[in-house]
Amino acid sequence: MSTTSDAIRSAEAHSAHNYHPLPVVVASAEGAWMTDVEGRRFLDMLAGYSALNFGHGNRRLIDAAKAQLERVTLTSRAFHHDRFAEFCGQLAQLCGKEMVLPMNTGAEAVETAVKTARKWGYRVKGVPDGMAKIVVAANNFHGRTTTIVSFSTDPEARADYGPYTPGFEIVPYGDLTALSAAVTENTVAVLLEPIQGEAGVLVPPAGYLPGVRELTRERNVLFIADEIQSGLGRTGKTFACEHEDVVPDLYVLGKALGGGVVPVSAVVGSAEVLGVFRPGEHGSTFGGNPLACAVGLEVIAMLRTGEYQQRATELGEHLHHELGLLAGTGAVQTVRGRGLWAGVDIDPAFGTGRQISERLMDRGVLVKDTHGSTIRIAPPLVISKEDLDWGLDQLRAVLAHE
Ligand SMILES: Cc1ncc(COP(=O)(O)O)c(C=O)c1O
Repeated sequence: MSTTSDAIRSAEAHSAHNYHPLPVVVASAEGAWMTDVEGRRFLDMLAGYSALNFGHGNRRLIDAAKAQLERVTLTSRAFHHDRFAEFCGQLAQLCGKEMVLPMNTGAEAVETAVKTARKWGYRVKGVPDGMAKIVVAANNFHGRTTTIVSFSTDPEARADYGPYTPGFEIVPYGDLTALSAAVTENTVAVLLEPIQGEAGVLVPPAGYLPGVRELTRERNVLFIADEIQSGLGRTGKTFACEHEDVVPDLYVLGKALGGGVVPVSAVVGSAEVLGVFRPGEHGSTFGGNPLACAVGLEVIAMLRTGEYQQRATELGEHLHHELGLLAGTGAVQTVRGRGLWAGVDIDPAFGTGRQISERLMDRGVLVKDTHGSTIRIAPPLVISKEDLDWGLDQLRAVLAHE
């Protein structure tokens, strides 16, 4: 019996089966490469759903974490600590905003944005108590809490978790007319992913995000951009909204903000909006802890160099050029995406996304399927062009052999 199958059997015996991981057991990782318990190497073309934009074991991030581990790791928000103000100030500046509300996971940050919008609606906009509405898009993915799955359109994510939280209106993604019709005087926010990640890296039609910005401004509604997966370099800009010169009212950030080291998330916005909270009205024991702030500060400093955005732009152009050559020929139906991020729809006759992912794994490349026959490609932004080309060679080989 191999070490791999032992580890998988043990995991299946002792953990809930809420995931169906590829049968690889990672033991260590560096940059864009992971090594499994049997010493086999794999190119990571998923990067923890963009949580690992800066690669595994990034020296700057590990050093920042280690230095902070030796000083102080947790205070709770009952006390101030000496990394907090710096982190919030720097993050607000990176976003061109004034205030930050730090949390831990992406879902918590989305919940925080929902609470912010409702409170803003009641206290600032004057929506009658209990009437606030938030408009969201079909095929969204914003996390796994009971409120968030209440406005999911994915039966797998949603089934058997009712009763569901009311107050959400779902409209087709990319459809401004439908959005406009859904916004009423009690609407407090429109919550969107600027590119829908889980849905298969869906880029909305040009003009959609500026249209949402204009509509929300005109109707006194907050525009909340969930940039948890699309933000912090992945698309070639710090924020995916920047591609269309759009500045939302609230940024929701997570994943790469923790550098793949610790969970760090945040909602970032103006003092008028985030200023609605008073002490005791929202919080988190771990949100904004010293270790999270130290790592987050290093992430912000790294993004400030522009180096990672540039890599995502250049390598992304190459990735999309190469994938574009495959699109419409043989197994590949369509390719979408922006920067170092792609959704590749495989002709179901060639195999499911899962089967393609397994065949890629056998050739030393790790990706993740979504929605049946789509595979997502999102390597760490530190990947070399040679490694990216090697990964693409493996994809071509897998597709050629079916
Ligand atoms: C756009 C988006 N929002 C929210 C989340 C939820 O983040 P977390 O898994 O950290 O709760 C995700 C995770 O994939 C995401 O892609």
